[in-house]
Amino acid sequence: MTQNPEPCIGIDLGTTNSAVAAVVDGAPRVIPNRQGQLLTPSVVAVARNGKQLVGHVAKRQAITNPEATVYAAKRLIGRRWGSREVEDARQALPYPLVPGPDGHDVRVNLGGRAWPVPEISALVLAELKADAEAYFQRPVSKAVVTVPAWFNDGQRQATRDAGRIAGLDVLRIINEPTSAALAYGFGRSVNAKVVVFDLGGGTFDVSVLDIRDGVFDVVAVGGDTYLGGEDLDRRVMDWLVFDFARAHEGIDLRKDKMALQRLKEAAERAKCELSSAPSAHVHLPFLAAGANPGAALHLDAQLGRERLEELTRDLVERCVQVAERTLRDAGVRAQDVGEVLLVGGQTRMPRVQRAVRELFGREPSRSVHPEEVVALGAAIQAQMLVHPEASAAETLLLDVTPQDLGIVVAGGWFQTIIPRNTTIPTSERHLFTTSQDQQTSVRISVLQGEHERAAQNALLGEFVLTGIRAAPRGAVEIEVTFEISADGIVGVSARDPQTGQRQSITVTATSGLSQGELERILEEHRDEALSRRQAQGLLSSRRGAIEEAIAEIERLAPAAEAALQRSPFGDDAVRKARAVVARARAALAADDPAAALAEEPQIDRTVQLFRSLVAGGGA
Ligand SMILES: Nc1ncnc2c1ncn2[C@@H]1O[C@H](COP(=O)(O)OP(=O)(O)OP(=O)(O)O)[C@@H](O)[C@H]1O
Ligand SMILES: [Mg+2]
Repeated sequence: MTQNPEPCIGIDLGTTNSAVAAVVDGAPRVIPNRQGQLLTPSVVAVARNGKQLVGHVAKRQAITNPEATVYAAKRLIGRRWGSREVEDARQALPYPLVPGPDGHDVRVNLGGRAWPVPEISALVLAELKADAEAYFQRPVSKAVVTVPAWFNDGQRQATRDAGRIAGLDVLRIINEPTSAALAYGFGRSVNAKVVVFDLGGGTFDVSVLDIRDGVFDVVAVGGDTYLGGEDLDRRVMDWLVFDFARAHEGIDLRKDKMALQRLKEAAERAKCELSSAPSAHVHLPFLAAGANPGAALHLDAQLGRERLEELTRDLVERCVQVAERTLRDAGVRAQDVGEVLLVGGQTRMPRVQRAVRELFGREPSRSVHPEEVVALGAAIQAQMLVHPEASAAETLLLDVTPQDLGIVVAGGWFQTIIPRNTTIPTSERHLFTTSQDQQTSVRISVLQGEHERAAQNALLGEFVLTGIRAAPRGAVEIEVTFEISADGIVGVSARDPQTGQRQSITVTATSGLSQGELERILEEHRDEALSRRQAQGLLSSRRGAIEEAIAEIERLAPAAEAALQRSPFGDDAVRKARAVVARARAALAADDPAAALAEEPQIDRTVQLFRSLVAGGGA
């Protein structure tokens, strides 16, 4: 028996939208979700009835449920509580954030519990996994997941944890711009320096690649993981709020979460419209209560493209500065660039395109789809990893680490161990020694960043080497190896070169989940998946019986209804029976075992009732 090869998928887990793709019949394609769309909003909500919602259904109810609708979680993943970005997000987001139990990571209060951010992202990933399974009609677990090139170790680890929680076997974490370049190069012969300019909903990346004979060599990357469409939306919102306050005696819309959510959606819509029209009209009726009781206030505003460009000028300027620096890092002049790829929905903005044109002195390529290309590249990479025999053999990816990796040294300075733009995987050894007599442990703080003062860089974690030989200070040396994997994830190991013994290391103060907590979450999700599978198994054994019972109800219905008409409670019973049948049919069609099995007792009762009615001729 020949089996189709196991499907593997590529997932672009975006700030605003996510997409899943796979190589099908030799070509990468985006897999539609079960509603038929290619993009799934990265939105998770807990509805008032306690149900978890993901994607379009979650986004649709955001206005009426802003405090329990989580969007842009990617802006929080793997970040430290108290960081500048988290503080900023707390100001802007309608849902509440709290610190994790040890005060390092960020949690989201949702539906009465504090969720680690990777668990929120896991719901989006699980949704895409289920979409792929519906498409292939079989289980899918092997996946490549993309992250912004500028993501640091903590953000990458947290994304990988999200994948595991979603039940995915994450084969590789790859950089979004590299992924886009891979998809661009698929089936084309490219021999050029290519720049990927990726401005999405929440992050900005720019990568310079040298593509030659199937080798995708990333020369330099730059970026900002807190710069994207969300920031532009906020500028428009602030402008609308200010304008409204001026027109209505200082009414501050920011105090009303529902109004804010409506404003956010309207601001984004207007921003997008302005990419193709010179002006956009924002109309939000009944947005606030007026001073006079019962008098509602409406928002009516006209936003011109020039005004939008003025409001967001510094954001576009920041993109240009990052791109210039990345070119300098790459040692590539703008005129030597053979192609510029625009990736990310926000690059549809004409002002962004103009900035790119001015910087590179050329028209950017129109050959990639800005919101789909990253998932396509991830699918190609997944295929290369799972079925190397079936892939274009000569394709090789050489990616780099985005930021300097280093440690804190005396005086609070940052000492670089592995410089940015080093090709990964890579490793570097460093010798540490004790500074006090009889010292038996050493604490090493590992950071990523670009500042010479350690405190201004991101702390990845503290590694405590314990059980060091007791000796006078300086007499013991410990050799520490810093590794960066192909996923861009940092590993630290240590040994005593004199005895050759490996040193044990405890990692603390990371911005992610502790191993114990991750295990607990994985266990919970395994239980959930198990009970889902059990229900699925139960349904497949009960399906035939349920379908037969429905058919019998329908067959008996005319006679039973006639009998019921004569009884005082007839109408009610008929309506109830119809509703039960409709619900059961819908649940079977949607393959929703819990719902279908829940209807079974009612169906049985209805069958019994109808049989006795028809046999006895009355109620
Ligand atoms: N026509 C348009 N004009 C301007 N902006 C647009 C347009 N269409 C989409 N956008 C913006 O693009 C952003 C979403 O882009 P995209 O789906 O590429 O982001 P993402 O992949 O979810 O985010 P990221 O890559 O940053 O994690 C949103 O901010 C959206 O408002
Ligand atoms: Mg993106």
